[in-house]
Amino acid sequence: MGEPVVELKDVCVTFGKNGLFRKRRGVEAVVNANLQLAEGEILALVGESGCGKTTLGRVVTGLQKPTSGQMLYRGRDIWAMDRGDWRDYRLGVQIVHQDSFAALNPVRTIMHSLSAPLRRHGLAKSGAEARRKAAELLTIIGLTPPEMFLDKYPHQLSGGQRQRVVLARALAVRPKVIVADEPVSMVDVSLRLAILNLMASLNEQFGITFIYITHDLATARYFAQKGRIAVMYLGQLIELGPLGKVLENPCHPYLQALLTAVPVPDPNIARQRRELPLRSLDLPDPSNAPSGCRFHTRCPYWKEICTREIPPLEPIEEDHYVACHLVRSIPPWHLLSVEQPSP
Ligand SMILES: Nc1ncnc2c1ncn2[C@@H]1O[C@H](COP(=O)(O)OP(=O)(O)O)[C@@H](O)[C@H]1O
Ligand SMILES: [Mg+2]
Repeated sequence: MGEPVVELKDVCVTFGKNGLFRKRRGVEAVVNANLQLAEGEILALVGESGCGKTTLGRVVTGLQKPTSGQMLYRGRDIWAMDRGDWRDYRLGVQIVHQDSFAALNPVRTIMHSLSAPLRRHGLAKSGAEARRKAAELLTIIGLTPPEMFLDKYPHQLSGGQRQRVVLARALAVRPKVIVADEPVSMVDVSLRLAILNLMASLNEQFGITFIYITHDLATARYFAQKGRIAVMYLGQLIELGPLGKVLENPCHPYLQALLTAVPVPDPNIARQRRELPLRSLDLPDPSNAPSGCRFHTRCPYWKEICTREIPPLEPIEEDHYVACHLVRSIPPWHLLSVEQPSP
């Protein structure tokens, strides 16, 4: 990998520690996150609701300052940048949220929403140029003919069309990185794949790096086929690597549990995996998270060390990382399969 476009170094984010409740530990939403993203890469960031995905995405987009640690853009700490570099960074890294309706001004036309960033950043010098470029953007994201959409208001579009407009607006400033936080969870199921395909084609055409944040393994698997997956559990990154490799050989007991719990449409395949027996089915309270490895209260294999020390994310094979003290001693994934009963 060349110089990473985005790099997180030991990033921690803690909410509500200071002020009135000084004695409380606060919510450690992100704990010691280390991550490097290459230019043009696709990363799916996956985990259950409340595990810190959005907070991590906000750190990458500069909306959340880490409590400790660093967020680097092209090798520079964004919180120590001069104005020129900061501007470059703010244009270079864009965010797309799940709620396209909230993201667009309801009393402004699509034309206005798209031309505002173009005019603001000097990418269009006149009204006519802005309209031409806005039309180009709509063509790129597949709302054609653009004349049919430019003068509409957000409420006149479907959820899928609105999410395309939000993507077009992010594209207006020619970003290097797009953080897409649950971008299809409010879109009609039938239109989800089309939006994911659109993002994949933007990645291919323009080399834009994507961080795709989702609680849904199935769409992560689809979108990041050629990319990497990072799995979070209660603020900790617990497994990271090329998506195919990680899902073929998941090593962290939490990811193994997630994968055996996913219903598989083919009953023959479903029967091949025994569900990993967890000690507890409940997600612990994030404001009172377990010490050490946060998964130890649910892990069937836990040992004393897991209650004390946070396991670092370490390579188990060249580019496949796992944060588990016991990763080399627990039963490997292939032993979790159950022999098929003969028909
Ligand atoms: N601004 C905030 N103030 C206090 N707690 C927060 C704030 N934002 C998030 N949290 C807490 O941090 C944890 C992680 O939240 P979030 O990053 O939104 O998770 P996810 O996106 O994976 O659902 C949750 O326990 C959440 O309640
Ligand atoms: Mg979220």
